[in-house]
Amino acid sequence: MADIDPKSSGGVNRSEGVSWVELMDKDSRPVPDFLRTESYTYRGSAPLAATRYTSEEFAKLERERMWPYVWQFAAREEDLPEPGDYIVYENAGRSYIVSRQDDGSVKIVHNVCLHRGRKLRDVDGTADQFVCPFHGFAWNKDGSFANMPCKWDFGHLNEEKLGLPEAEVGRWGGYIFLREEKGGPSLEEYLAPLPEHFKRWKHEECFTALWVAKEVPANWKIVMEAFMEAWHTIVTHPQLLPFTGDCIGAYWTWGDNINVNNTPFGVMSPHVNPEGKTQQWIVDEFVKYNGRSADNYDGESAADPFNIKVPEGMTAREALGATMRKAYSEQAKQDLDYATDAELLDGLVYNVFPHFAPWGGFMPNIVYRWKPGATPDSCIMEVRVLVRVAKGDPMPRGAQMRMLGKDEPWTACKEIGVLGDVFEQDMDNLPFVQDGLHCSKTGEVNLGDYQEIRIRQFHQTMDKYISGELGGWKK
Ligand code: FES
Ligand SMILES: [Fe+2]
Repeated sequence: MADIDPKSSGGVNRSEGVSWVELMDKDSRPVPDFLRTESYTYRGSAPLAATRYTSEEFAKLERERMWPYVWQFAAREEDLPEPGDYIVYENAGRSYIVSRQDDGSVKIVHNVCLHRGRKLRDVDGTADQFVCPFHGFAWNKDGSFANMPCKWDFGHLNEEKLGLPEAEVGRWGGYIFLREEKGGPSLEEYLAPLPEHFKRWKHEECFTALWVAKEVPANWKIVMEAFMEAWHTIVTHPQLLPFTGDCIGAYWTWGDNINVNNTPFGVMSPHVNPEGKTQQWIVDEFVKYNGRSADNYDGESAADPFNIKVPEGMTAREALGATMRKAYSEQAKQDLDYATDAELLDGLVYNVFPHFAPWGGFMPNIVYRWKPGATPDSCIMEVRVLVRVAKGDPMPRGAQMRMLGKDEPWTACKEIGVLGDVFEQDMDNLPFVQDGLHCSKTGEVNLGDYQEIRIRQFHQTMDKYISGELGGWKK
C-alpha cells in the first residue's frame, strides 16, 4: 500500500490513556490472539470526493459494478425455519425470494414474474408455490416453473427454460448470503478471517430477538460510516464517556472485506477528568447508559446486572465482566467461565464489505445492515439484536422486522432500551452530513489515518469493484 506519510499517525493509536492491547493484557481471562494482534495497514491519506455520497451517477456505478458481485447478507436462518417459509429481500434495485426447501437447503430466486413483471411476493410468508397475483403464472418454491393459465397462448415459451433466475447462496453462522452474479471468491474466502474469530461466539446458536429498521435521509454509506468509528462519542454521545474508551479502541483491517473496531467499555474515556471519579462511578454510569444487557431481551436472567458493587481492589471492568459472565452463563445455560471481560463488555464491531456489521462477543449481539434508498439521499438502516438460545432449548422463529414510520424515532422501539437514545443522537447529525456534502465548497471529505481506516478500506474496496479489479462487470 501507500508509503506512510511522516505526518500520519501511521497506524498507531496515539491518544492518551491505556491502550486496547494493554487492556487485553489485564483481562481477567486469557484473551484469544486475534483480539490482541494488531492488523493495521496504512492506506494513504487522500481526501474522498463528496460526490461518492451525493451523486446518482455514483449510485448507479454501485448498482452496476458492485452490488451484483458481492456477497450480501440476505437473511438469518431463523427468519425461515420451516420448508416453504420464505422472505423477500430487496436491495439496490433488485428483489429476491429467499426460501427454505424440503431438504433444509435455501434457494434464492429473483422475485419478478416472467410474464409481465409483477413482483411475485411483496411480503414474507409460507408457500410451496409462488403464484403470480396478476394472471396466475406459478413457480415451485425451488424456482422451477409450475404452471400457467391459458397455456394455448404461450406456445412460444419454453417451460423448461422458464425457471426464475437464481442467485448464488452462501451460509455461515446462521446468516444466509446471496451473490447475484455467479463466480468469484467463495463465501468462506470472502469472509476470512471473520469466521475464525466468531468460532468463539457462535452466532449460529443465536436468534433474532429484535429487528427494527428506519429510513434515514442520508446516503447509506454516510449512515454506515457513523457506526464504523467510536470517536464521535466525545461530542455526539457524551453520556457514554464515563465508561467508554472512545478514542483508545483498536481499528484493524484484513484484506478487502473485513475490519473491526474494538471499543472498550467499563473504562473511562481519556476525555473525562478523572479527578474524584471512582471505579464504582464508572459502573454506575455504565448501568445507566449502556444498552446491551440480556435482561432487555429475555426478561429472565437470574443475575441482576444492574446491581453491581465494585469490591475493593477490583476495577470497574473486572467487576462488570464478572457480573456479565454470571448473567450470560445463566441466560445461555452454559459455562462461559472462559469468556474474557472484553467479550462480555466491549463493542467488537466487525464490518463485512459492503453493508453488514455483526458485533462479536457473547453478549446479546447487535447486527447492522444498511441499504441504499430510492435516491442517493436516503437509505434504510436495520438493527437486529441476536440473543443466544439457551442450551437445550429449541431455536425460536426470528422476530419480524418492525419498520419505524418517518416520524417515529428509534426510541419508539421500547425494547431497544437506551440504544434508541444513542441512535437518535446519531440521527441528529446524519441528514445534516448529507446536506453539508451537497453544499460543500471543497467537495472533499477528510479521514483520520487511524480511527477512520475502516472507512478508507471500504472506499478502496468499492473502487476495486468500480474499476473492475474485483467483481466482473468488465468480463
Ligand atoms: S404478470 Fe405475473 S402472471 Fe401476468
Ligand atoms: Fe454514534
